[in-house]
Amino acid sequence: MSFRIQPAAPARPNRCQLFGPGSNAKLFEKMAASAADVINIDLEDSVSPNDKAAARANTVQAINDVDWGRKTLSVRINGLDTPYWYRDVVDLLEQTGDRLDQIMIPKVGNAADIYAVDALVTAVEAAKGRSGKIAFEVIIESAAGIAHVEEIAAASPRLEAMSLGAADFAASMGMATTGIGGTQENYYMLREGEKYWSDPWHWAQAAIVAACRTHGLLPVDGPFGDFSDDDGFRAQARRSATLGMVGKWAIHPKQIALANEVFTPSDEAVAEAREILAAMEEAKARGEGATTYKGRLVDIASIKQAEGIVRMAEMIET
Ligand code: COA
Ligand code: MG
Repeated sequence: MSFRIQPAAPARPNRCQLFGPGSNAKLFEKMAASAADVINIDLEDSVSPNDKAAARANTVQAINDVDWGRKTLSVRINGLDTPYWYRDVVDLLEQTGDRLDQIMIPKVGNAADIYAVDALVTAVEAAKGRSGKIAFEVIIESAAGIAHVEEIAAASPRLEAMSLGAADFAASMGMATTGIGGTQENYYMLREGEKYWSDPWHWAQAAIVAACRTHGLLPVDGPFGDFSDDDGFRAQARRSATLGMVGKWAIHPKQIALANEVFTPSDEAVAEAREILAAMEEAKARGEGATTYKGRLVDIASIKQAEGIVRMAEMIET
């Protein structure tokens, strides 16, 4: 129980976050022209150490020169265990205008990591007189990150979104896989000799959703490595959406339409949500808190579920 009202997550679409390496400048215009809601230019693990400085310079130039339309524009900085991250923050904030919306902090392990970046960002923002306040998104991709997920979600008012980074997470946890998300061959139960596969990412996803919803952040599913497997991507994304996540990364342009398809409420789902709201209005007029819709119970909790779907659809339309 809590007498406090659960804070709303930022009211912006986040169905797909498209990544591209900062070292690959020829991708920027294509990323800007894509149907992704969020762009993540990467300075971290898709950029080799020799390319870090060039990737940073390319990224600064692209933020200033490319027309990013209405997309949320974000840059993934290097981790706090590297010599690169402070220069990423300083150059991005000193050398770009207000078009940059967010920075993404990878491999976050506890609230102090966020505090450190927040202190640097706050100082550079003040020194440069930046008008827009930079938001943060973070990646939970280590044992420490998931163990401290709740304090991380509460760490700064700049926080808007949190993703699960499956590959680093699996490595940090010592999971016996080299796959990036999706079904894992050896994670099954046996019944009468038949295999039934289960979902090894479920616990981490549910923990992220709970931390995000408690503190008003957008919970996001991270990468799905096998970009030739559309059905595998869809299955993973549908599980994430069912658990409460709002979107998923694309590490190849093929995956954008798939993410948008899964995380956009279908016309049928929106129509049904509106019908449930109408049925509950009628019930209210009769002085009832619960009623029947298509042979099943709907009550005051159903209003919140239905409103969530309608709100999401309206946000995407505008
Ligand atoms: N954003 C926009 N466009 C992209 C793209 C991206 N991330 N990746 C590839 N494309 C474009 C290619 O330039 C090519 O365009 P063209 O048809 O005009 O020539 C088209 O999509 C098809 O690309 P394809 O040949 O299938 O892929 P590739 O071999 O060029 O690149 C990857 C494959 C995986 C290396 C590339 O997609 C990539 O760098 N992904 C992002 C990796 C990343 O950022 N990782 C960090 C987060 S985990
Ligand atoms: Mg990672």
